Amino acid sequence: MCGIVGYIGSRTAYPIIIKGLQRLEYRGYDSAGIAINDNEIKVYKCKGKVRDLELLTKQKPIGGTVGMGHTRWATHGAPNDCNAHPHRSMHGKFVIIHNGIIENYDHLKKQLAKKGYTFESETDTEVLANLIENFYLDKKVDAETAVKLALTKVIGAYGLVVMCADEPDKLIGCRKGSPLVLGIGEGEYFLASDSTPIIEYTDKMVYLNDEEVVVVTREGIKLTNLKDEIQKLVVTQVDANIDNIDKGQFEHFMLKEIHEQPTSIYDTFRGRISLDKRHIHLGGIADVMPRLAQAKRIIIVACGTSYHAGLVGEYLFEEFARISVEVEYASEFRYRNPIITPDDVIIAISQSGETADTLAAIRMAKQQGALILGICNVAGSSIPRETHAGIYTHAGIEIGVASTKAFTAQVVALTMMAFSLAKKRNMISDERYAALINGLVDVPSKIEEILLNEKAIKAIATEYKNATNAIYLGRGYLYPVALEGALKLKEISYIHAEGYPAAEMKHGPIALIDQNMPVFVLATKDKYYEKVVNNIQEVKARNGKVIAIVSEGDDTIAHMADQVIEVPDCDEALMPLLAVVPLQIISYYIAVMRGCNVDQPRNLAKSVTVE
Ligand code: F6R
Repeated sequence: MCGIVGYIGSRTAYPIIIKGLQRLEYRGYDSAGIAINDNEIKVYKCKGKVRDLELLTKQKPIGGTVGMGHTRWATHGAPNDCNAHPHRSMHGKFVIIHNGIIENYDHLKKQLAKKGYTFESETDTEVLANLIENFYLDKKVDAETAVKLALTKVIGAYGLVVMCADEPDKLIGCRKGSPLVLGIGEGEYFLASDSTPIIEYTDKMVYLNDEEVVVVTREGIKLTNLKDEIQKLVVTQVDANIDNIDKGQFEHFMLKEIHEQPTSIYDTFRGRISLDKRHIHLGGIADVMPRLAQAKRIIIVACGTSYHAGLVGEYLFEEFARISVEVEYASEFRYRNPIITPDDVIIAISQSGETADTLAAIRMAKQQGALILGICNVAGSSIPRETHAGIYTHAGIEIGVASTKAFTAQVVALTMMAFSLAKKRNMISDERYAALINGLVDVPSKIEEILLNEKAIKAIATEYKNATNAIYLGRGYLYPVALEGALKLKEISYIHAEGYPAAEMKHGPIALIDQNMPVFVLATKDKYYEKVVNNIQEVKARNGKVIAIVSEGDDTIAHMADQVIEVPDCDEALMPLLAVVPLQIISYYIAVMRGCNVDQPRNLAKSVTVE
């Protein structure tokens, strides 16, 4: 949440920062602002998107080769011009941008008020700017020391970039809880919330650790911690594809990312499945495999779409590896005082690798001795750095706020883990193991087949674009897909939608069904098929509209349902990977037809770095 970007070098900073903000806009789009050292530190900011900021600055020639920018997801204070970042301290000495939350800001604000400070905005960030300035003026120290002194008083999370009017050719970056990446170019440096605004200029990145402070000038970098101890600069070569951050031929990132799934799924199993398709080797967890195989219990922690992937994992691990699994919302798990033992294995699932609740949950479980594994998409992000081992999903950068390709990549990672764990625990025959691996390898081409049907799926979306509610039903492996389908629809089209295990419908939701209620039923040929057919009859008997996702050639449901979408056959354990795709496409087109901003839905942001 909130995107921050900074630049120092020999080029004009303004276009680099604006482009960087556009790349980061998926992290928040309530307001945008920049600060540039153009003879003095000038600040431009406004409510709205980066393009509003561009309009604001259009007539103003902005020079300067040092600067920073911010795109906001509002926490403290409404999204308006005044609350937009950057924030300047009262005496004008400091300008700062911030991602995170200063939890004790009210206490700090009262202390500063007693010293005569007044505040223009409602933000916690302005309090921090004034706190830094207060140390700077009172203690007569340099900017770096003032920042460090202020941060020792702060409770909360921050990814921060600071400019000082007296030391204008310098950026000071620091982080705790919220991410900050330093990009090292040829005679130029970048700071950003993630690598997306940087990869076009350099692939050399340093992921800052908590409580590290980096001082960047044109002459070089100094990395210390809050105690002023020099820290080792660990430079990572980031292997990111620049194509991932452009929409290409597609109108929206979400549609592009839906279409990328054959590739992203392939990339996630490529190199992990042997060429003869008989073995899975997960290098990232190979060392911990013996302990994982002995686990008494697996606890999966995640949020949102990643939580739904975790639910698919529960079915997979229990069926194949015969290990008991609990799937927990990270936000509940971390505060519930859960019972965790060293025999437990925690798997954190997160696209961004930065979700605050998931990160806090694994920290807590780590202290209690559990083995912590991660399934993450963003290399170098916080969660993979804090886990004992893990698997990267190689979905590529996901920009659309609604997660699509990250979900299927997470499910692929969990599927490979479950199958190889089953093998390790001798719970599966060689033949079945090989058949499942072959089935997984066929998934990308089967998704391509579904994507060829996009026009017909779009036509179904047209029928339901004016719905005000929708229900999604599924059983077994497809119950989590029902939840995911409902989440996709509600988050981008603002239609109220709920997912249920199909059998639960009779226990309440059936009361909602009338001729206006679309019911999306996941009804492929698996062991629940007959029961799901009964559920469809129950909906039809109450005049509900049924849109069924069915196996190829299913005549039975075609005669009952209002619309059917066929998906190719596969083992039921792999069906979530196929069945979710038509639901993603339907949500996408419904949202587009309703005029919604698909890639940047209201109130949302990708990478939820506040709890
Ligand atoms: C929904 C969506 C969110 C995320 C959730 C967790 O489309 O994207 O629900 O899945 O915020 O994010 P990560 O996976 O980054 O931890």
